[in-house]
Amino acid sequence: MNGSSFGTSFKITTFGESHGAALGVIVDGCPAGIPLSAEYIQTFLDRRKPGQNVYSTPRKENDTVEILSGVFEGSTTGTSIALLIRNEAQRSGDYSEIASYYRPGHADFTFDAKYGFRDYRGGGRSSGRETAARVAAGAVACALLDTLNIKVCAYAKSINEYVCFDTKEYLAERYSVEEIASMRDKSPLNMPDADASAKAEAYLQRLREEHNSAGGTIECVLTGLPAGLGDPVFEKFDARLAHAMLSIGAVKGFELGSGFEAALLTGTEQNDPFYTDEAGNIKKRTNRAGGVLGGMTDGSDVLFRVAVKPTPSVYAPQETVKQDGSAYTCQITGRHDPIIVSRAVVVVECMAALTAADALLSNLGSKLEHLKMIYGTEQ
Ligand SMILES: Cc1cc2nc3c(=O)[nH]c(=O)nc-3n(C[C@H](O)[C@H](O)[C@H](O)COP(=O)(O)O)c2cc1C
Repeated sequence: MNGSSFGTSFKITTFGESHGAALGVIVDGCPAGIPLSAEYIQTFLDRRKPGQNVYSTPRKENDTVEILSGVFEGSTTGTSIALLIRNEAQRSGDYSEIASYYRPGHADFTFDAKYGFRDYRGGGRSSGRETAARVAAGAVACALLDTLNIKVCAYAKSINEYVCFDTKEYLAERYSVEEIASMRDKSPLNMPDADASAKAEAYLQRLREEHNSAGGTIECVLTGLPAGLGDPVFEKFDARLAHAMLSIGAVKGFELGSGFEAALLTGTEQNDPFYTDEAGNIKKRTNRAGGVLGGMTDGSDVLFRVAVKPTPSVYAPQETVKQDGSAYTCQITGRHDPIIVSRAVVVVECMAALTAADALLSNLGSKLEHLKMIYGTEQ
């Protein structure tokens, strides 16, 4: 298959299926000298792994990462970083019945239409498990961003109708990234608003009894990015972010800053006025642009949201067809999240970090001064 790579200058290539031997990723283009350990990467994987709380599938996977190459004496060496996560809890028996029919909301039908052959034991490359490899790679990107004091923080913004704080007020304007992360980590749903989280938990409990699932939104903020990342035409920073986000299974929508609401605003309401601060830096008074103008970062926080659909595997009976086209009522078994949003939070964070790391490295040649700083000698 094509399309297992993401990025140009900081490039990742993932491999592996949910029911194969392992998942993994090769990270190319990571500069030498970044402090990196398996323990650090593991903290990211632990946020994604199943079985963390009652709202996550009870599938027991340790998701233990092994660093196979590219790190020596606690630092990246500049060579390819290979990371491996072995699958430990494959239970093929749970999935054998689905070989004969197409699960609604899954990629079974499209895999057969494209390849004429599929690994029916689970979602294969389309499984939510595939995102473990992205998270491992994203941890490497976060290690790089950390050295530059660039922070990435994602959180569950809403689950069904239960929304954190005021929907119109961006969290990033009210709280620091550290405050949001600390409030988020207290919620089993990764929602940084205790009241909304409690209401969403009660709602999910009701849904679980009805054998159904829910969707929601994830908001993500990147702070400390310099102005000028991204290219003005096809490789716009926001276009790359949208690509990164929409490549995550179950993500169905992307919006930056005021997003879809921009369609309802007037020009004066949408535009962010510029001013020069006391230190002489050009800044914006508001951030309805979401930190990107003309495809290039503008130096303010990059703020975006994604919409995540409800978990497609629900236990309620569903109408579908078998491979031969005959009608079939399926009843899915196995282990599935009643909500994807909460586990996908760290996936969003990691894909945003990968996008930023790639843009930072790709931008090095945009100005002669950059090149002089790296290669220049005193005249
Ligand atoms: C972190 C994560 C976990 C997921 N867990 C499940 C799951 O337990 N059950 C399920 O049916 N889908 C799960 N999914 C979603 C499916 O992988 C996805 O909906 C499916 O492959 C169809 O792709 P599409 O929704 O992008 O069209 C998960 C996705 C992510 C990102």
